[in-house]
Amino acid sequence: MEIIIKNDYDEICTEAYHIIYQKWQQKNNMVLGCATGRTPLGVYAKLIDSNKKGKINFSELKVFSLDEYLGLKETHPQSFATYMNKHFYQQINIKKENIHGLKGMPEDIDEHCWVYESLIKSVGGIDIQILGIGSNGHIGFNEPSSSFASRTRVKTLTKETIKANKHYFRDGEEVPRYCLTMGIGTIMEAKTILLLAFGKNKEDAVVNSIEGPVTASVPASVLQLHPDVKIILDQEAASRLKRKDYYHWVYNKKKGIERYTKKLKSS
Ligand code: F6R
Repeated sequence: MEIIIKNDYDEICTEAYHIIYQKWQQKNNMVLGCATGRTPLGVYAKLIDSNKKGKINFSELKVFSLDEYLGLKETHPQSFATYMNKHFYQQINIKKENIHGLKGMPEDIDEHCWVYESLIKSVGGIDIQILGIGSNGHIGFNEPSSSFASRTRVKTLTKETIKANKHYFRDGEEVPRYCLTMGIGTIMEAKTILLLAFGKNKEDAVVNSIEGPVTASVPASVLQLHPDVKIILDQEAASRLKRKDYYHWVYNKKKGIERYTKKLKSS
């Protein structure tokens, strides 16, 4: 795991943007896994800006949304499909046929989940999966106790997740209790994972995921087992980490390692 601690939210988003930009330079038809929620909005804004300025071209990009509320049509104002269209997909030059998302009202749920998994495989898998983290450590809507082997499926949201997402809904409107989400097994197959977190209310989830044991009680702790994961945090989200100095040291020495290994190879 690479732990990158930045000063503020804007710096988190800039770091994530550069990682995605570099990948796009190597692979124009990259496959991006996209989370909803507040956390990745700044990254999407930077990608949109770069696309508008002609620096990055998304005509070959493919996207897969991470999750969706069960029972909400794609056109529902609070569906994740609406959210992603509004905050990202509609603002870039992506082809419609390259936008993939889970449907909130599929005819056959199991078949829909299975087809989604197959679709991800058919494009060669996800190159970069963007994740936020719930204050209970969830990734996607894989709540605590989710199996590390889980695939895309229906999950029941915890009361805390329902409460955390209530502000997206109008007064008196109920937050759905069920959702469809890529499984932890699905997420772990992404080639690179970027998990972003900012703010004090993420500090427990962050320290438990990075420095605690790998346990289904903290779903994001599974990322300790992924070969290429970058966790990008602001000072508040990182505040309980014990090995902060080491993470800074590693980050600042990164260029040095690259130079050193190059030198060893050529000698
Ligand atoms: C979003 C998702 C969730 C959020 C998490 C953090 O698609 O599946 O895991 O990433 O709940 O939400 P925010 O970013 O709103 O704090």
